[in-house]
Amino acid sequence: MLEFDQLIDRRGTFSAKWDKYQGREVLPFWVADMDFAAPQFLLDALAARVNHGVLGYTRTPEPLVGAFCEWMRRNHDWRVAEEWLVWIPGVVPGLNLTALAVAEANGSILIPTPIYYPFLSVPANAGQHLIKAPMQRDGRRWVMDVDALQATADRQTRLLMIANPQNPTGRVFSKVELEALANFAERRNLWICSDEIHCGILLDRQARHTPIASLDPGIAERTVSLYATTKAYNVPGLSCAVAIIPNADLRRRFQQASRGLTPFIGPLAYAASTAAFNDQSGWLDRLLDYLRGNHQAMLAAIGERMTPVEGTYLAWIDVRDLDLQNPAAHFEAHGVGLSDGAAFAGRGFLRFNFGCPKALLKEGLARFAKGVEAAPRLAHIAPEDPGQGSSKPPQVAAVP
Ligand SMILES: Cc1ncc(COP(=O)(O)O)c(C=O)c1O
Repeated sequence: MLEFDQLIDRRGTFSAKWDKYQGREVLPFWVADMDFAAPQFLLDALAARVNHGVLGYTRTPEPLVGAFCEWMRRNHDWRVAEEWLVWIPGVVPGLNLTALAVAEANGSILIPTPIYYPFLSVPANAGQHLIKAPMQRDGRRWVMDVDALQATADRQTRLLMIANPQNPTGRVFSKVELEALANFAERRNLWICSDEIHCGILLDRQARHTPIASLDPGIAERTVSLYATTKAYNVPGLSCAVAIIPNADLRRRFQQASRGLTPFIGPLAYAASTAAFNDQSGWLDRLLDYLRGNHQAMLAAIGERMTPVEGTYLAWIDVRDLDLQNPAAHFEAHGVGLSDGAAFAGRGFLRFNFGCPKALLKEGLARFAKGVEAAPRLAHIAPEDPGQGSSKPPQVAAVP
C-alpha cells in the first residue's frame, strides 16, 4: 500500500470539508484541502515546537525567511530580497490587503474568470468595482484572453488579479502567456496581484511555474506575489503566507492596510512553513506522482467534460449540457459533494478536488457517473453568459 492510499477518518476533527455533509451519505470533494497526512518531517517539526510547551506570540523566524528565499532561488530561479517580504496569515488576506493598498475612489479591479471565489469579493471589500473578463476554452485548455481584458478594463482600472496555477481551471500559464499579461498590465499601468499558492502542485511534467514578477524588474515593481506552502504540504489549517512586494511604497501601503486587522501568525504555522520550505526529502515528488495517478483516473472517468489539469488537484468539469437548476445539489443527492461553478463565476461547471486516496476517488467517480446518467439533458443549450468564461459546451458522448 502506498503512503497516500491510507484512508484517514477525518470525522470528529471538525474538518470543514467533511463536516459539511455530517449525517448525510455524501463524500466531500469540494474545498481545496487533501485527505492525506502531512509529511512526517513536518509533523516532527510541529511536535518539537509543541513539546516546548509555551506557544506565545512569535516574530517571523529568521530561518523561515532564509528558507523561503533559498526555496525561491532553487525552485524558480528568482532571487528575492528579504526586505521585500511581508508575512501574513493567509493568501486570501493578501489578496484583500493588495486591493486596499492600491484602492482609489471609483477604482476597479480586473479579474479573469472563472476564479477561486474569494477573489470575487475582494473589490467590494476594498470599495472598488469588479470587472470580470472571461477566459476562453482553447481546445483542451483554458487561456487568458488578453483582448477581452483590454476591452473590459476601463479608465478606472487599477489592479489585475490572477491565480497561477489557476484555480479552478488547473492551468499553469507559460512564460509567453505571462509576458502577454504583463505587457498588458504595463500598457494600462495596472498593479498586478498574482496568487501563486498552487505553484508546488504541478501535474503536467512539461509545465514550469514562472513567477510573473520574475519576468523582469519592471514587472516586479508593479506586482504583489503571494506564496504559501499550505496547499502542497496539506496544512491549510496552519495559516501562514508571504507577500513579495519589491516596490517599497506599495509595500508600505500594504503594511498600513493590515495594521490592527491581521492577526499574528502562530508559532505552529511558522514551524510548519519553515519545515516545508526547507524540504528536499522527495515527499512532494511522491505526492505529485500519486496525484498524477488520480488525475488519469479522473480523465478516464470524466472524459471531455474536463480539461487536463496542469497544476492543482482540482478539476473543472463542464455540465452545461445537463438540465440542472443547481448542479452541486444534484450531485450531492447522488452522494458526491462538489463545488458549484456559479460561485467561481462559472455557472454550469463543477469543481472536483481529487486530492484523496484512490479508493475514495473511485467511489466518488462512480457516484459522479450515476449523477450524470440520472440528469436530464438540455434540449437546447442557452446562449452563453459572458460571465461564465467559456466558449462552447462539450460534445459529450456517454460518460463511463
Ligand atoms: C488560489 C487560492 N488562493 C488562496 C487560497 C487560500 O489561501 P489561504 O488559506 O492561505 O488564505 C486557496 C485555497 O483553496 C486557493 O485555491
